[in-house]
Amino acid sequence: MIKIAPSILASDFARLGEEIRDIDSAGADWIHIDIMDGHFVPNLTFGPPIVSMIRPVSKLCFDVHLMVESPETLFPALADAGADRLTVHPEACVHLHRTLMQIRELGMRAGVALNPHTPLSVLEYILDEIDLVLIMTINPGFGGQSFLPAMLPKLRQLREMLEKNGRNDIHIEVDGGINVETASLVIEAGADALVAGTYIFGQNDRAAAIASLRAARSS
Ligand code: DX5
Ligand code: ZN
Repeated sequence: MIKIAPSILASDFARLGEEIRDIDSAGADWIHIDIMDGHFVPNLTFGPPIVSMIRPVSKLCFDVHLMVESPETLFPALADAGADRLTVHPEACVHLHRTLMQIRELGMRAGVALNPHTPLSVLEYILDEIDLVLIMTINPGFGGQSFLPAMLPKLRQLREMLEKNGRNDIHIEVDGGINVETASLVIEAGADALVAGTYIFGQNDRAAAIASLRAARSS
């Protein structure tokens, strides 16, 4: 079953609570929460206090994507705020293996996000420490960018790598430029979790938008 993770980056922040309630009742599986620090990426969003404030609004998995330098400084506050999964970028972590263990020690699930240029080889010795790989299908920092088709062979290779290691339980999530057309391509290439911001929040009928992504494989 394909997981759909609407990215609240594309929501109306003046009505954040209502927007989250809306995608929750529209059938979202996870809430994708983009935390940016203005250093690792050239954009700035919000931090743990906002995550804590929106926690009572939905029981869905809070899938937190950390586009920040030294992300470990935020882990305790994000655990307290009720984050379920923290996904970090290897380039932001000097000791990636230790960083992933720290996330799990705080009772959260751990993911690794790979930028378009980041090779799959960084995963080789950390597969036991993660439950998700996030393949960036854009360069991180902003919503509304175009999907990079060069990421399709990367997704296929990752699926092969996980199969070879007997780790098909690890989710392959994609993030950036996902709409009904690109969803069918990434699902065919091995993705099982789709982040979508602009595509879902840009439509009045979020339930239809979410359903269309989930059904994209057969379209
Ligand atoms: C960008 C973020 C994405 C973003 C995707 O760095 O990681 O989650 O919200 O936005 P769309 O779906 O509009 O490409
Ligand atoms: Zn994201």
